Amino acid sequence: MNSIDSISCVSELKDSLSSLKVKEYGRETIIQLLNSKGDKLEPLYQEADRVRQEHMGDEVYLRGIIEFSNICKNDCLYCGIRASNRNVKRYTLSHDEILETASAMINNQQTTVVLQAGEASMLSDKEFGRLISRIKKETSLSVTVSVGNRPYETYRYWRDCGMDRYLLRFETSDPGLFRALHPACTLEERLECLGYLIDLGVQTGSGFMIGLPGETMEILADNILLCRTLDLDMIGIGPYIPHPDTPLADQKNAYEGNEDMFFKALAVLRLVNPDAHIPATTAFDAVFPGEGRNLALQRGANVFMPNSTPVQYRKDYLLYPGKPCVDETANQCATCVAFRVESLGRTIGKGQGHSRKDRHTKGTDAGIVSHRN
Ligand code: SAM
Ligand code: FES
Repeated sequence: MNSIDSISCVSELKDSLSSLKVKEYGRETIIQLLNSKGDKLEPLYQEADRVRQEHMGDEVYLRGIIEFSNICKNDCLYCGIRASNRNVKRYTLSHDEILETASAMINNQQTTVVLQAGEASMLSDKEFGRLISRIKKETSLSVTVSVGNRPYETYRYWRDCGMDRYLLRFETSDPGLFRALHPACTLEERLECLGYLIDLGVQTGSGFMIGLPGETMEILADNILLCRTLDLDMIGIGPYIPHPDTPLADQKNAYEGNEDMFFKALAVLRLVNPDAHIPATTAFDAVFPGEGRNLALQRGANVFMPNSTPVQYRKDYLLYPGKPCVDETANQCATCVAFRVESLGRTIGKGQGHSRKDRHTKGTDAGIVSHRN
């Protein structure tokens, strides 16, 4: 399935999920795998690692992330930079700062810049498009953007400026839970935005938090299946971590005391989505300091997103407590990442690490596709 065009509402989507036969992995099988314990765990991780190697190889692609603004108009209940959090010192990087930071990535074997920010018009669509064009013209980097829900025309304009990829997590596949956590947006609207991106031919990434308060095993299984239904190019998942300055401060992760669930979810995600790029996300390191992302790379992940935000801004982009690398410079992070990847016997990806899906690779050299119409 290449588009969610035909799916007009969430209930239809849910129906299509339960009737979907994803290879042998249906909802029940997924729940069974997520319940693996004891001596069943290691074989699950090994199978995820094998499927990752078979479909994605041993290369780990490095995508440097610049958290270029923490200004957000939304009030997502779990998020440390939500609009109502008065303890956050707000910032936005200038175009020149972003360009200088992005250019430095090339010496650190990073072939993609990820531009992430809160959801706010901190700069106009036109200005942001100009920034994308400049990065594409002045560097060899691929450009991934992650700035939330936007109109179709905006995504199209940014694509025409050279935007290669877009990240927009659906956060949870449960419409009621989504509604409770996002005062400004419904799951249907979020999925509509993902549909725009897919239809525009932008390499599309989505994903979810593991263990949001109120999540059940059925919801977790449906989250994994929704990634498959959307046929995503990239899938980012990571544990939900309560932030003290949010309304969910006292709400524990649904799997507290059962943290293996974070890796089980990642491993099953890989089995169900063999040819998607899956990053070892930062939140794994917040829960398992110093080793979370290494373990994620050994249990299904094939991408690493080193933090490249200039060090003076990092402590102001705390989505959750315990975020690693807040005192390190971009160069220190880059050196550390290279060491981590090599220590696992893996190599750093040399190419752009574009989508492996046929719709992006057919008829192009080396999997690099132009999206301009
Ligand atoms: N504004 C953009 C958006 O909403 O897609 C990008 C920034 S948003 C902060 C990036 C991601 O951070 C969200 O998609 C969410 O999954 C994750 N996040 C936010 N708060 C979190 C928390 N308390 N624990 C774990 N992840 C969190
Ligand atoms: Fe806007 Fe989190 S509430 S980025």
